[in-house]
Amino acid sequence: MLNGKVIVLGVTGGIAAYKAAMLCSRLVQKGADVHVIMTESAKQFITELTLQSLTKNPVYSDTFDERDPSVVSHIHLADMADLVLVAPATANVIGKMAHGLADDMLTTTLLATTAPVMISPAMNVHMYTHPAVVANMETLVSRGVSMIEPGEGLLACGYVGKGRMEEPETIVEVVERFFEQQETTEWSMANEAKAPGLLEGKKVIVTAGGTIERIDPVRYITNDSSGKMGFAIAKAAKDMGADVHLIAAHTDVSPPEGVKTERVESAQDMYDAVMREFDDSDLIIKAAAVADYRPLKTASSKLKKQGEKMTLELVKTTDILETLGKYKQKQFLIGFAAETDSVEQYAMDKLRRKNCDLVVANDVTKSGVGFGTDTNSVHIYDAEGLALHLPLMSKEDVARRLLALAAERMTKGES
Ligand code: PMT
Repeated sequence: MLNGKVIVLGVTGGIAAYKAAMLCSRLVQKGADVHVIMTESAKQFITELTLQSLTKNPVYSDTFDERDPSVVSHIHLADMADLVLVAPATANVIGKMAHGLADDMLTTTLLATTAPVMISPAMNVHMYTHPAVVANMETLVSRGVSMIEPGEGLLACGYVGKGRMEEPETIVEVVERFFEQQETTEWSMANEAKAPGLLEGKKVIVTAGGTIERIDPVRYITNDSSGKMGFAIAKAAKDMGADVHLIAAHTDVSPPEGVKTERVESAQDMYDAVMREFDDSDLIIKAAAVADYRPLKTASSKLKKQGEKMTLELVKTTDILETLGKYKQKQFLIGFAAETDSVEQYAMDKLRRKNCDLVVANDVTKSGVGFGTDTNSVHIYDAEGLALHLPLMSKEDVARRLLALAAERMTKGES
């Protein structure tokens, strides 16, 4: 996620400066290009050599130490940054930032940059709650600076309370989320305008929900699918101009308005419905959770309790996606894979075995991902491997991004 991102890391003079080493290391491991600027007081706590060795970039601290005559260092750093992160941020630097002071390399760079700025304060608990510091932080937040709140605990000064710089791992997570969010917003802005016509003239089949496999008239086997993912795809496809045929098994929510919807119950019903629509379709997206097995016999009347044990004999259902993969001609086929482990391996296996063009894998052990949630995070694979990773976002956004990718691939296939 941080591949190629230029992060200017400002390190200021507090005991938490020692954590800057771990922070640099983690950011670099994630692929970021980290350029450190230290204040003079930071150098009392950690050496330039440590941070230079970890980032493989020169460390700056003196505004007048111009090493490359072709650039002005603080302007160059300010311009190249995708993000300026100050960690730790002392009360002093927060005060200078709030009042626009620029008396060293870090604060001049902070004034010169137009990149987003994030700070991770670290100080004594009384300093942190001092009205002057609180007012300065409020000023920065009102100007769009992001604040990574310090944690509570035993502080180096001996006090217990709020003021401990957040741990490097957490800061890296915040930075990753920031870039993910930025990427999503940029994508939406760039694609919103062209989205309406993207699937014009295409017939799209979407399956959603969980199939129901009857044991008797009042009992059945099903799964946790709410239908939200498939419904979001059907709605997005319609908004992109497609003629959508939605085939929905059991769901918790209502299908999107204005979308042609066919209700089915079992895997066999879904198979029949999909096959009826398949021949003249262009794109099929199988977001439904389809039972792999069904009871061998469905009792026509309610089964009565008998004995201590009961055995239910199950037989395989027809794999709809695999069948479509065998018969597809012009159709672009997208399968889903709900996994709890070895996500990539199982997704790639499904892609090959079921002859899909794309497989959308969701790791359903993760919070906010998969069954029943309003959000999802997916890895989309093609025959070459990972084609697109979508971080946690609404199912509507996942649907739009997935369909845009499919539309792009389908156009390429036609030309
Ligand atoms: O409905 P939500 O609550 O919004 O949740 C979304 C979801 C988790 C259901 C969705 O994102 C998802 O992952 N759907 C596929 C779930 C699943 O059953 O995965 P699977 O790995 O068991 O199946 C792989 C693919 O084969 C799926 O595209 C499935 O539709 C298809 N399949 C499976 C069995 C079968 N007999 N026929 C099929 O077509």
